[in-house]
Amino acid sequence: MSTSVKQADSDKTPTKEELIARFGRDIFNDFDYNDPMFNTKFNETLEAHLEHCPVAHSKVGTGYWWVSRNEDVRRIGQDWKTFSSAKGYQPNRPEGLPLLLPEESDPPIHTAWRTVIDPHLSPKTVASYDANIRADVNTLIDGFINKGECEFLSEFGVLLPGWAYFKNILGVPVDDLTKLVDGVEQGTFGPVDDRGGHFAFVFEYLDNYLKVRATQPPKGDMVDTILAGVIYEGGQPSTWADKVSILVDLTFGGIATTTYVMASAIHYLATNPADREWLLNNPDQMSNAIEEFARVFPPIVGLGRTCTRDVEVAGTQMKEGDFVMLAYSASSRDPRVIDNPHKVDLTRKNVIHSTFGVGKHRCIGSNLARLELRATLEEWLKRIPKFSMKPGTEPTYETAFLRSMRKLELVF
Ligand code: HEM
Repeated sequence: MSTSVKQADSDKTPTKEELIARFGRDIFNDFDYNDPMFNTKFNETLEAHLEHCPVAHSKVGTGYWWVSRNEDVRRIGQDWKTFSSAKGYQPNRPEGLPLLLPEESDPPIHTAWRTVIDPHLSPKTVASYDANIRADVNTLIDGFINKGECEFLSEFGVLLPGWAYFKNILGVPVDDLTKLVDGVEQGTFGPVDDRGGHFAFVFEYLDNYLKVRATQPPKGDMVDTILAGVIYEGGQPSTWADKVSILVDLTFGGIATTTYVMASAIHYLATNPADREWLLNNPDQMSNAIEEFARVFPPIVGLGRTCTRDVEVAGTQMKEGDFVMLAYSASSRDPRVIDNPHKVDLTRKNVIHSTFGVGKHRCIGSNLARLELRATLEEWLKRIPKFSMKPGTEPTYETAFLRSMRKLELVF
């Protein structure tokens, strides 16, 4: 992991100028979340913004603001009238990419969809998948436990969230997972100009799936709810494109996020044996530990909104039409609301974080993500109580508006 600003220089906090020299880029006035430097100096950058620059600016494309402090992120997330999602969540959006619903919409369209989809991902519904997900965790572990080693991402971390979502919610064959994960990953981390094309593949796949399901008898699942559609205010029914877009957004969330928290938690436990021992001896503390892992290892680095009017945020004047990113990753380590935020503290009580977002767009899949994390950590620790990094290896990462771990080699 990248070190924190203060850990890197424990006696004094570096000045803005020192940080600019260290990063080789003015991350305060010319930030770029696609810059490979952000990937390698991830936490340092978040902390530098929190310390020195509550609202950083990017000159990339048409430019965007980058808001880090917990208080400001909460305010923006909750004020959807001033900070709209209806023009998309990424700055410099790839041309021709259809809007993703419900993510890239405001009320009342947003409310109409959340009202019908939320029950399919409620705590009660999701709890009914517990046994299936634990069985899948064990099937995946069976695949490598006798080898005494594994590459966690390809042999477990990418597969489990996909299986959980495909088998219990979406109903598409798990054999197709690799294609979809690839489409989503290339659409997120691939060369910027190619991203739209990779997403188009995911749209096409789910469009076809929805067409097939429309010819089959209903199963009463989430896909049938999407097929039934909603009526918008004014009596307008949702279109076919809206339904495909809902399915794409859910699939994106379902396969592109939980893996990072899971892999980071396993990496942390591989490299911190005392905490691993503590968690083994205190299984009743798992819920807290999961919140702490989610806080320090946020897969969604930042997502954006468009200002619907001129507005001031933390002393920065924004204009109508400006694009503003909510750095959920930074706001979860803001020292103004979290003590020793750079420290992973599994005993931390009432963990405050914005990893699942804030306001109306707060993550619809958080109950499923938490269950996947719990099932993974509990079953893993039962079967593989002692594990460590393969000597001579380090995890590798990729970062854009999402953060992802690419390789994690373990021995046990
Ligand atoms: C650890 C795992 C996850 C994290 C950290 C995460 C994070 C987030 C965040 C930060 C948002 C808010 C977006 C915004 O403010 O614009 C969000 C929304 C969303 N998430 Fe998740 N997510 C996770 C897992 C999932 C899963 C498993 C699913 C699907 C089953 C999912 C589906 C969605 C959808 C559809 C939205 C859009 C909700 C809306 O706009 O109302 N997420 N997620």
